[in-house]
Amino acid sequence: MVNVNIGLKEEARKELADELSKILADTYSLYLKVQGFHWNLKGRSFATMHKVFQDIYEGVAETVDEVAERIQILGFKAPATFSEFAKLTQIAEEKEVPSIDEMLKILLADIEKIVVSSRKVISKADEVDDVVTADLLTGSLKEYEKTSWMIRSTL
Ligand SMILES: [Fe+2]
Repeated sequence: MVNVNIGLKEEARKELADELSKILADTYSLYLKVQGFHWNLKGRSFATMHKVFQDIYEGVAETVDEVAERIQILGFKAPATFSEFAKLTQIAEEKEVPSIDEMLKILLADIEKIVVSSRKVISKADEVDDVVTADLLTGSLKEYEKTSWMIRSTL
């Protein structure tokens, strides 16, 4: 394996890659959950919410890819299995089909968890001058905060 010489110490890259792996697991778990809601929801606002959930998971999918590739760019392997994600994530699975209101409350709580975690990782990235990781997570944070505002307003 060719050395990674991008001006970041290996220890810092490893620490950030580990944190990004947790964010990746959270993001992928959220993606699957929102897609499940998109498939399984029932109710009078089906058409509207079916589209809303699709818009959310499509946005989340972009973040999944960017975070995974950032881990590789830092010189480490991105987790890419459901078993690894299950170990790393703080996002609980939803096996039932909640009401639409419950779905929104669950998603809001999950997104807020990712927002809080992302903010901590951004601080760590800033500490070691990894401006690219900080920028990447700031971009997704902006989207998550906007989505959480829209969900809060819907509720
Ligand atoms: Fe669909």
